[in-house]
Amino acid sequence: MGFSKKTIKDIDLRGKRVLLRADYNVPLNKAGEITTDYRIKKSVATIKYLLDHGCSVIICSHLGRPDGKVDKTYSLSPVVHRLSKLLGMHIFFSDNCVGPEAQAAAEQLQTGQVLVLENLRFHTEEEANDEDFAKSLSGLADVFVQDAFGVVHRAHASTDAITNYIPSVAGLLLANEVETINDVMADPKRPLMTIIGGAKISDKIAILKRFIDVADFVAVGGAMANTFLLAENIKIGKSLAEKEEVPLAREIIALARAKSKKTNFIFYLPQDGVAAKGMTKTSPTRVVDWDSHVFADVENYPKKVPREDTRIAADEMILDIGPFSGAFIAGGMQLASTVIWNGAMGVTEISGLQGPVGPFSHGTELIVEAMQGQFGHKPFTVLGGGDTVGYIEDRGLTDSFDHVSTGGGASMELMSGKKLPGVEALMNK
Ligand code: 3PG
Repeated sequence: MGFSKKTIKDIDLRGKRVLLRADYNVPLNKAGEITTDYRIKKSVATIKYLLDHGCSVIICSHLGRPDGKVDKTYSLSPVVHRLSKLLGMHIFFSDNCVGPEAQAAAEQLQTGQVLVLENLRFHTEEEANDEDFAKSLSGLADVFVQDAFGVVHRAHASTDAITNYIPSVAGLLLANEVETINDVMADPKRPLMTIIGGAKISDKIAILKRFIDVADFVAVGGAMANTFLLAENIKIGKSLAEKEEVPLAREIIALARAKSKKTNFIFYLPQDGVAAKGMTKTSPTRVVDWDSHVFADVENYPKKVPREDTRIAADEMILDIGPFSGAFIAGGMQLASTVIWNGAMGVTEISGLQGPVGPFSHGTELIVEAMQGQFGHKPFTVLGGGDTVGYIEDRGLTDSFDHVSTGGGASMELMSGKKLPGVEALMNK
């Protein structure tokens, strides 16, 4: 499919002052320290390319949602320190991204030097896609390079309006993200398996429908699966679910079943789950086998399976997929050539429960291990979605997948087939 926009490889860069839009919206802990620097690391290739081709580089980004107010808890200054370490050079910093200070810092910048501007979102004009603000930003440089894949689904001043005032091309990270995701959705090596989890169907309706359209196997997990179970009249106790979305879940199940009738296609909902009455590390858990009865049969053999082994009780919650469901998905993956994964299978993000040793992380961990090829077969693996990528970053496992997207919402929108305003606005090849 390729990438239809001009990139930094298509233009003459020598002697140019470049304004680079990066996505340095990185997680910070209470002490203001960066907890995962994946996005910063992934921006380095473009910066090095620009420096190697005779540019001076001015970087702008947002961090968090300061809502147009100057709030130093969202300062990009920790990013400057981390980037300086990664590049092994001094980096200049301007306390404002526009105005006389930014203008002076930009003018003083020499070839081979890097300047980072303070958070764009300290100005309301950024998210308002304000033309004057965009014009001021564009006045700092000769060329604009968009490399902030994580934010190109937003039409903001630094993703959209700015391209009206300055030649605008893509950086290497953006081009690679768009190309990889578009290619894997349009022409994947088959069989293609997609795994979708997370909390809400309503957040992921577009991507779910696209997955059903393009994939050979769609597996659903996470709290979103509970709404599908409700639609199938399976008792879910007090599990998190979107009751109002049951009709939508039924519509999606019907769509999937219609495809299964016509072609070799599997739409898989969990057959068992890990249930508990509380969401703490010490809450007693049990496996409930509402569908297949495989685990319940084995556990009770040679006795008859008691009814409660196949029913979630009214005061219980499903907090992870069960071992049979995990094994089915991991087993199915042994036949897949491509796997796209978006969304955890259980509760993995709540403080005190997160990480691989969390009581509700087993299903997610099984998926991770299968994707890494630990059961013998290693498919081509693509990860998207903020929480999923965050989990993998925290585990330090980003290198063990073929493509780990730096975008949360952006990767989901691209996988859903939507156009991204920040990409559309760039110059065509
Ligand atoms: C992200 O982290 O998804 C991007 O940086 C976009 O941030 P936003 O959702 O605050 O616009």
